Amino acid sequence: MNADIEALRKEIESAVLDTEEAIESFRLTYLSRKGRIPSLFKKIGDVPPEQRGAFGQSMNELKEQAQSIWEEAELALKSKTDDERSASEDLTLPVEPTLAGTLHPLTRTVNEMKEIFLRLGFDIAHGPEIEDDFHNFTALNFPPEHPARDMQDTFFVRKGEEEEDLVLRTHTSPVQVRLMQEGTLPIRSVMPGRVFRNEAVTAKSYFQFFQMEGLYVQEGVHMGELIQTLVQFARMMYGEDVRYRVRPSFFPFTEPSIEMDVWWEKDNGAGQWLEILGAGMVDPNVLTSAGLDPEKVSGYAFGMGVDRIAMLRYGIDDIRTLYENDLRLLRQFSG
Ligand code: PHE
Repeated sequence: MNADIEALRKEIESAVLDTEEAIESFRLTYLSRKGRIPSLFKKIGDVPPEQRGAFGQSMNELKEQAQSIWEEAELALKSKTDDERSASEDLTLPVEPTLAGTLHPLTRTVNEMKEIFLRLGFDIAHGPEIEDDFHNFTALNFPPEHPARDMQDTFFVRKGEEEEDLVLRTHTSPVQVRLMQEGTLPIRSVMPGRVFRNEAVTAKSYFQFFQMEGLYVQEGVHMGELIQTLVQFARMMYGEDVRYRVRPSFFPFTEPSIEMDVWWEKDNGAGQWLEILGAGMVDPNVLTSAGLDPEKVSGYAFGMGVDRIAMLRYGIDDIRTLYENDLRLLRQFSG
């Protein structure tokens, strides 16, 4: 008897109920008055009295299961035919979207980076894309004749004789200055945003791109913490086995300064080092310009190239791809 119940259950569970006919024949075969479940139920008389309770219970469960399989199949078929009918008959109904929107790879990368830094205890700050000369250059310890101020690299919005120059910010570092000027310590923030440089467009450079600045200012901040944070970031972004190297470098606003490269390996096994960030200890002159006392506090800063990080992450080898908005690229980033 128990074997009969089990066999019936298997049959019921594997029934394919995708048409009206199949569903009706399921009902007739198993559930109708002369169907196989009621027929088996009638054999309760053949079961030894002490086993009848258990037999009855199993049979009830089987019947309920069959009933709900049938009901669900009915509902599913009804909603499917409703959909088909309304799609073909009522042209005022909105169509099913065939292509859902996707996040741009740069947006995804910025989101991931923000998430990593939130987990590392940073908050997020923003600053203006049009900056004055003071925040973009002077406060960051750029000497007046520094080549980066040159027309070659900077887009000027206003180049005044009497008024201060206004520029499209050439990096996110001016946001550091703005946070330090607010003067609320400790500062532990990342600052994502768009930056602009008057450069020739090539596979590796574009006239606008994205950076994420980082700043930590407090008493006693030191270089070891900076490197620890950058290594932690690289591991969280690219995985524990990421290959990186840290090199000495120079920036007017940090001393000492470093750059970090990550090893980029292509499918064919060839590879190269790709620079993903500049960083260093905030120069005492910068602390002073922003109104802080370098005898009391110190800080580290870093500026990451979001485009580079995205290119490494997704194996994109031409930065222009990120700004062409070709749907064939964007569609690869769905889900
Ligand atoms: N602002 C630098 C750049 O654009 C990067 C940087 C930020 C370096 C902070 C050191 C500290 O190249």
